[in-house]
Amino acid sequence: MTEALNHKDYDLLLDLVKTRSSVRSLKSDPLPEGSVEKIIEAGHWAMSGANSQPWEFIVVRDRETKLAIQEAYKEVNIDYAYWMEQQRIPELRHPSFHLKGDPYEQIEHIKSRAKWADAPELIVVIGDGRRQWGTVMAGHTFGRDQSHLTDGLANCCQIMHLAAASLGLGTQWITIHIQEPYRRILNIPDIYTIYLIIPVGFPAVEAKKGVRRDIEDMIHYDMYDPGKFISNEGILDYLAGLRGKTLEKYRVSYGEGK
Ligand SMILES: Cc1cc2nc3c(=O)[nH]c(=O)nc-3n(C[C@H](O)[C@H](O)[C@H](O)COP(=O)(O)O)c2cc1C
Repeated sequence: MTEALNHKDYDLLLDLVKTRSSVRSLKSDPLPEGSVEKIIEAGHWAMSGANSQPWEFIVVRDRETKLAIQEAYKEVNIDYAYWMEQQRIPELRHPSFHLKGDPYEQIEHIKSRAKWADAPELIVVIGDGRRQWGTVMAGHTFGRDQSHLTDGLANCCQIMHLAAASLGLGTQWITIHIQEPYRRILNIPDIYTIYLIIPVGFPAVEAKKGVRRDIEDMIHYDMYDPGKFISNEGILDYLAGLRGKTLEKYRVSYGEGK
């Protein structure tokens, strides 16, 4: 067991956790030497199933490579996500995909906003699922999925975002899921899962204040409190609220259909 922390440590941690935010506009200024290595050093102390440490990191500094990755993201991820989002009612679409006008103009506009290749360095986090063989896979996941791999990678990434914030640097979480173009560009062997792209740089914008649900709504003591259960419809209300919309509008414009 770790030695008990005092309040000062907790306050420091909470302060860091609360001041970190996603920074979606980064300066191209170079990072102080060793910054990314410090971030990775922190990340590699993350928890992982059976201490399997499935992570590896590709630090991309070469401008052409950064641009190639960003171009792939625009061509594959944004395009795909745009059309997927069109399947939802407008009030529930992600705000980035909730625009007006001609769809093809919208796509071009959304693509033009992806500028993270301007960041001086990208950390591409990849995972080697074979290292998960160290864990009791069947017991933990009933053999259903590889969640132990992504759980460990997520832990590692969270620490890296915090470490960057502690150094006064901004980061963003670039979800990719789609593997192929990045695998080709970065010469990554098939066995790896390409998990995340983290652009790192000095923030070019003021940090946004974080918004979170009330803690009271999410804590249950001793047993699950059924009074806190939210219906499926309630979840839709919640999602619409996150987007600053109300479902009333949806009901009016789309009738009773759900
Ligand atoms: C699993 C996951 C996926 C995310 N995907 C993206 C993404 O693709 N692009 C992006 O800009 N932010 C992404 N984010 C960041 C969230 O949007 C962000 O953390 C959330 O809105 C809270 O804002 P904050 O990070 O400023 O506190 C992702 C975060 C997580 C944990």
